Amino acid sequence: DKGGWSSFMAKEVSEEPEAVANTLRGRIRDGEVVIPELDGLDELFTDVSRIIIIACGTAAYAGQVGKYAIEQWTRVPVDVELAHEFRYRDPVIGPDTLVVSISQSGETMDTLMAVKYAREHGARTLSICNTQGATIPRESDAIVYTHAGPEVAVASTKAFVAQITALYLMGLHVGRIRGTISPADAADHVRELEAVPGKIAQILEREQPRIEQFAGWMADTRSVLFLGRHVGYPIALEGALKLKELAYIHAEGFAAGELKHGPIALIEPGQPVFVIVPSPRESAEMHKKVISSIEEIRARGARVIAIAEEGDAAVLPKSDEVLRIPLAGTFFEPLLAVVPLHIFAMGLATAKGLDVDQPRNLAKSVTVE
Ligand code: F6R
Repeated sequence: DKGGWSSFMAKEVSEEPEAVANTLRGRIRDGEVVIPELDGLDELFTDVSRIIIIACGTAAYAGQVGKYAIEQWTRVPVDVELAHEFRYRDPVIGPDTLVVSISQSGETMDTLMAVKYAREHGARTLSICNTQGATIPRESDAIVYTHAGPEVAVASTKAFVAQITALYLMGLHVGRIRGTISPADAADHVRELEAVPGKIAQILEREQPRIEQFAGWMADTRSVLFLGRHVGYPIALEGALKLKELAYIHAEGFAAGELKHGPIALIEPGQPVFVIVPSPRESAEMHKKVISSIEEIRARGARVIAIAEEGDAAVLPKSDEVLRIPLAGTFFEPLLAVVPLHIFAMGLATAKGLDVDQPRNLAKSVTVE
């Protein structure tokens, strides 16, 4: 039931705040992360020296965002690998490896086969999954469910923000067990997480109509580029994937620092480029670097659509459009910056008269390898 929305996707984007809030529910006690499902499973995290995250598509981008925070909080090296690549390269894994799979459906065959492979080769396995009782969690040593609620639209939206939330909960849990994060820092991050649902709701309320309007003006666009740095990089990839799958437009995401190593040759007058701008309060250095990327592409005629925090005045004179997100710590910005990109892809596809719930050639759950 679409509950009065024009599509399941519109409904599910509107549910992004709840997807985060429900994934946090029951897992924070007195400002500390407590994950009941992981009770008695400490050795899963103390006996390993590395983490490999495996997933496909949007779930893999959630994994890439999670990597930055988990490494920072646990000091355990984290690799992120596409499930279908992982299994076929004879990966070096064993009992010292924790393989964390991420899957909304819990039925993606590529991911399932990679989890089975990891188990057979002695690795520990943890599943982050949105579907109770699905196959992948049943094949894993531990499960942390995301509670995004059923996702019907083919394109994953609310599950993505729930997956990042679950990865952060896991990271804070492991950081506490391993003693790699101070209680004060952990409490700060918990507060940030708890503030995310309200901030996403603000973006939906304040920016959605404007984003849909200019997505409508862009219905004839043939190509859109997305730039991000650090945690903004996987968000750029996610923005591009959504546009490809929903609006059938050529779209590519790049790490902003990679521009000068090739992609800048693509920039010609009028080329729309979304840029995810990191907070100047959180990292003046990264902010400066991204601003200088904007200057380089704008000098070559790009039409810059910046996603930047409220109050960041430096982006204004350098961008054609600025989409504002509320202030947040570095690791929490991706949970906000992705929302305008989901709205944009949906808005552009709708303006082209396409079915956003059921894009051509795609299935919700890919149960073949
Ligand atoms: C993109 C999308 C897909 C899925 C991918 C993994 O919007 O929906 O890329 O994220 O097929 O699916 P799950 O999470 O069910 O394993």
